[in-house]
This record gives sequence, C-alpha cells and structure tokens, in this order.
Amino acid sequence: MTLLRFALAGLSLGSIAQASFSTNLNYRSPSNNHPDLGIAINKVHKRNVPSSPFKPEDLYFTHGVASGDPYPGSVILWTRVAPSNESSDSTVTVSGTAPLYDHDNEKYVSVSTAPVCVEWKVSPDEKMRRAVSHGTVWTSSDVDYTVKVEATGLKPYTTYYYQFSVCKSKNSSPIGRTKTTPKKNQKLKKEINLAIFSCSNYPQGFFNAYGNAARKDDADYFVHLGDYIYEHKEGGYGWGWEMDRIPQPADHNIKSLLDYRKRYASYRTDVDLLESHQKFPWITVWDDHEVENNIWKAGSSAMNNTEDSFLNAGGLSIDQVKANAVRAHFEWMPIRQVDMDDNLRIWRNFEIGNLFDLIMLDTRVYDRSITDLTANRGYLDSIRDEQSRSLMGPRQETWFYNQLKQSAQRRAKWRIVGQQILISDIDYEYDRPATPYNADAWDGYRANKNRTLETIIDNKIDNTIFLAGDTHAAYVSDLVYFTNTTNYNPLTGSGAIGVEFGGTGVTSPGPVAQNGTLEEGIVRSQIFVDKSKPLQWQDSYYRGYYELKIDYKRVVANFFGIPDIRSRNGKEIKLVTFEVRDGENRLRRNKEGEAIVGKAVGGALKNGEVDLEAAVVVDTMEKKR
Ligand SMILES: [Fe+2]
Repeated sequence: MTLLRFALAGLSLGSIAQASFSTNLNYRSPSNNHPDLGIAINKVHKRNVPSSPFKPEDLYFTHGVASGDPYPGSVILWTRVAPSNESSDSTVTVSGTAPLYDHDNEKYVSVSTAPVCVEWKVSPDEKMRRAVSHGTVWTSSDVDYTVKVEATGLKPYTTYYYQFSVCKSKNSSPIGRTKTTPKKNQKLKKEINLAIFSCSNYPQGFFNAYGNAARKDDADYFVHLGDYIYEHKEGGYGWGWEMDRIPQPADHNIKSLLDYRKRYASYRTDVDLLESHQKFPWITVWDDHEVENNIWKAGSSAMNNTEDSFLNAGGLSIDQVKANAVRAHFEWMPIRQVDMDDNLRIWRNFEIGNLFDLIMLDTRVYDRSITDLTANRGYLDSIRDEQSRSLMGPRQETWFYNQLKQSAQRRAKWRIVGQQILISDIDYEYDRPATPYNADAWDGYRANKNRTLETIIDNKIDNTIFLAGDTHAAYVSDLVYFTNTTNYNPLTGSGAIGVEFGGTGVTSPGPVAQNGTLEEGIVRSQIFVDKSKPLQWQDSYYRGYYELKIDYKRVVANFFGIPDIRSRNGKEIKLVTFEVRDGENRLRRNKEGEAIVGKAVGGALKNGEVDLEAAVVVDTMEKKR
C-alpha cells in the first residue's frame, strides 16, 4: 500500500514538474512582449511556490468549461479552477512607475503564492478514453485562476471532447465538446451551420436564445458579435432584481480589472450560457459594452481623453479602463490572440474549407475615429464624409480588404463578415429628424464604407454577406453601394452587391423598449422598411438570434424570436427564412416577389404581408428535434 502510494505520488509530482506557466495563454496575454502592460511570467514563476499548491479538495471548477476559435488542427480550451467563486482582487492596477499589473510589490498588493496545477486532455470519445492532445499548466490569482490553452495536433472538421483536472487528484471539470474547422481548401459534403448572437444584457432577461440553439444542437459553431457583457450598475440599463439577475458589482459602472472579472463571472452563472459554452466552440468579437457605451479609440460616451473626463472619473483615464476591460476579456473568453504584440487585436479570419471565409472585424475598440457621444451630433454630421475617418484604423482596413481579395482569389464560395454595426442605409427620421441616420454605425463613416464596398465592386467579388448585431433589432437588407448613386431596384434586388443580416439582441431591448407591445413593434418595423430603401425585412419587437446554413449553392438564414425572456424557458418562434443563392448577390425573391422564403410571421416586410396569426411557438425543452 505504502509502495503504491509512493508510486502514485511520484507520477503526480512528475506531472507537476512538467506544469508550465507560459502554456496557460493568459499569462502571456494581453501583451506577451510588453510585460509592463501584462504579466511578467518570470516574476510570477519566481514568486509562486509550486511545492505548496492549494489542496485539490479546496479547489472548484467554478464557471464550467468553454472552447473557441477553432482551426483545422487546434482549438482554444478554457476553464477556471479556484478556491472560490469570487474573482481575485489581488491584481489591482497600480500607479507610479511600477508595471501596470504589478503583483510583486507589497506596497500595492499582497498575492497568494500558491499556484494551481491543472491537467487537460482532449479525446475523440465522450468517455475520454484516449487522449490525443494533453498538457499540464499552472494558474493562479495573477490571472483570476483562469486557464486558457491551445490544444494542438487535432484532425480537421472533427468533434472532440475535453476535460480539465486538478493535478494529483480526481477533481475534474465537466466534459466539454468542441469541433475543429475543415482544412483550408477542403471540399465539404455537408452544410455548415452557424448560430449567431449579440447583445446579451444579464439583468434584462434569461439567455434563452443560447439555450434554444444549444438544445436544438444544429450548429457547428456559435458566433457572438459583441455586447457579451454590459458595463452598467444595477438599474443603469435594466433592473435584474425581479429575476434574481443582478450582475456584480451592482453599485457602480464597472471600471477596474476586478470589476470586469466579477462581471464576466456573474454572466457565467446563466445555465444556458454555461451549457452552450460547454457544447460548442464560440467565435466572438467585442462590441462597445465589453468596455463602455460607444467606445472609440480615445473615449466613450462616458469618458474621454481629456483632463475634465479624468477629474470627473476620480483620476481614472479611459486608457486605464480599456486596458482593464481588455485584460479581463482575454482572461475569461475562449478567444485566440492572433497577435501577442498587439493587445487590442481581435480582428482575425477563419478559413472554413473552400466553402467560406469568416472574417471577424473590430469596428469599435481597436482604432475607431470619434463616434456619437450625444452632445457632438452636429460635429459628427459635418465630418461624416471625411476621408480620414475610419471604423477600423488603417492597419485593420488594409488587412480586411486583403482578406476579401484573397478569399475570392482562393475561390472560397462565400465571404461572411462578422462585425458589430449595420452597414446598410437605415432611415431614422422617426427618431431624429435633423440627422436621420445612425452616426455610430457605418453610415457615420461613409469614406470607410466607400472603401469597403468599392473593394467588393472593383475586384468583382461575389457572395459577400455582412453580419451585424448592436441594434437589438433584426434588419435584413440587400447590400447596396449607396442607394442614391446606384440603379438598385428594391423590388427585385438588381444592382445589389451582397446581403446584410443584422440580428436582434439575446436580451437587450430594441426600438420599442423592454415593455413595448407586439403591435408597437410592427408599427415601428413598418416605418423602417417603408423608409429604408435596401431594407427588406425588419423586426423591432422580438429578442432572439439567427442561424445561417451555408453550402455551395446557397446560404439560408432562419431568424428566431424568443417570446419570453423574463423566465428561463425553451420557447421560440421561427419568424422568417431568407435565401441567398450563389452568384446572385441579393436576397432571393419568392413567387410573390417578397425577399423571403415562404411566409414571415413577425416584423414587417417590404412589398409584402406578414402573417402574425401563423406564428408557431416551439418549445426546445419539450422535444428533441
Ligand atoms: Fe448591445
């Protein structure tokens, strides 16, 4: 018995000896080659005492498991294993000449010196019998006890299962499921299905949209277009107390690293969010609320790069807030950092066989020119067409245009652009007659919009589909190069150069607000489609999500409305279906000339009727499809 115990201990000590700080990617993030902006791994290494880690029985997998950013041969895996649910407050940001997150300085913080040793493995079978990829890493309070690793050596377009365990113990995480992407030029026999989400505000409702898509189990990959979290205090944007959904911290808008960590931790208590992370690989980008409302490169609607703003915020700069938000984001999201020298870069591409490229953009945080800060609408109007203005900054813009061109050159069938804000001309005269456009969307940055659409036209690029979130309502349009300068025909779609699918929020309220009625929503939708030339269908009422089924002949989009987000339930209504056929570069019209397939049962349709009576509520909790 003694001998056996000795042997087991020897094995375990072996695995601990192999444990690495640097393969837990969160120690290298968000700025691996600039430790002053991130974490100096050598200092963490020196300070921690591996021989006295936490006892396995004192550790918990507090927030499930997640995977993301799949490639043909690898995928990012995530978990958090900690002595408690509470986020670590040891890594306060510091001032003076010390590094930004200095943990080695008793003047500022005292941190735990006990690291946590974590083993992970990936298996092709659900029972985890055969590990095809595995590793051992450390985590600690320095990174809020999060673990993020890249599992490599995987086969393309294959389903895998994964699990984390505390070293030297049977204390294991739930088993997660994930899937790699096809090889770059692989020809696919099956369609690929994306479930697409945006704008999930925790205090305003349950994340039933995630749960429905997870239970239906149709999707290959989940895509989130941003506003995964919101920054407001309780009551600042919705009250959660009635549903016991008060995100922490509740008494102030989040600003510090600890605040952002706590906010992600609160959101990751929603069981449908946890299940959908556990079952699907996610591909995400942030929008503004992962930092603050209407963030741009040097400010937000609440804070700007001025002395006045600094003093009002109690001696806090927008740069500091952004750094905190970004660091917590990389700690908590299963996102790949494609450039470790560039701590703001999340724009990246996924080559899905020769079927499509999924080009993910950051039109917000990275390098956006000044946006709508409410008081500056007149100024924005005067600079709306200024050539220097950019949503992405020159580096990302150049990359984006090259991606579009390279995708067409490699003959990928479709180009799917996952990004935050609407690109189509939408008329807001009803809301703001003096400036009837959304200055915070592509319409406020028309030179950037010109450059993008001209790239598509000049290079004769077919089959481009833009995805958008941000607005908390669904907007589906033919993609048109400035409707007043083209011979676009909204009846037939001729003259269009692609399609835009804008999705509603998971819970965030739309144009008729949280308590708006279906009737009010229909009226508002009708005004939108009547006034906005390329807009073929709009829904201002429902929360929900949409799915894209992509094959070589067509892309089919199904939009789902969630009738009740005030309780956790599985109900949803398939509102409408769209089809885009290869080479047509517009929404396909049905026999009645409407830009949909079959009937629409919600929202408003250009040149067509919506049959509200035909809406069917399906319960994803009741039956398996
Ligand atoms: Fe939002």
